[in-house]
Amino acid sequence: MRQTEISPSILSADFANLKNEVESVEHAGVKSIHLDIMDGHFVPNISFGPVVVKSVRQITDLALWAHLMITDPESFVDPFLKAGVNGIVFHIELDIDHSQIIDYIKGNNIGCGIAVNPDTDIRKIEPLLEFVDRILIMSVYPGFGGQKFIENSLNKISELRNFIEGLKLNTLIEVDGGVNADNAGIIAEAGADILVAGSAVFGHSGGPEQGVRAIYNSLIHREYHEK
Ligand code: DX5
Ligand code: ZN
Repeated sequence: MRQTEISPSILSADFANLKNEVESVEHAGVKSIHLDIMDGHFVPNISFGPVVVKSVRQITDLALWAHLMITDPESFVDPFLKAGVNGIVFHIELDIDHSQIIDYIKGNNIGCGIAVNPDTDIRKIEPLLEFVDRILIMSVYPGFGGQKFIENSLNKISELRNFIEGLKLNTLIEVDGGVNADNAGIIAEAGADILVAGSAVFGHSGGPEQGVRAIYNSLIHREYHEK
């Protein structure tokens, strides 16, 4: 069975206490942090930009992945690179030259991913699959943390897993939105490699470290029962 990773989204973190929040998920053993960047145009919300990302870079050595929910990713690759991200994900729904931006991101020796919204056909990303490191399947409509996981995403994840296996690629599948300890097992089983979790981690009553551990434990528990 594949090892499933958890990538906490700091969108639901306490920004007045960000250093402790990040340290807390580090203690739980995560390898990356998910940065939700929203511009108020592509999605009906505004989050944070390169200035905050630069501060996060100063407090952790974890891989930082920027999920750009913005209409003009091309103009913002450089600022996020400068801020110290390790990977950039942009959306397939944008009417831009996807291959050009992939080449630019990869040319800077960082990771690149493509995100797919709930209403977008997963087949749209097929021609680009071999050129990116990961595909991010949105399992909620982007814009806000704390929404309910859209069940139909499970079919999309398995469909994508089949494409990837069929083409013998190593592209990772990341799933973003509404992930928690109750559904993590079934999402991993459908074919996800990385689970993004915001509110289930930073809104956990025992704190973010416990939030991550609860999801990891639910996965281990499931794997144990499958043997
Ligand atoms: C939604 C974001 C997600 C979200 C995850 O626009 O891309 O990363 O914040 O948060 P939860 O886990 O609370 O759904
Ligand atoms: Zn996200």
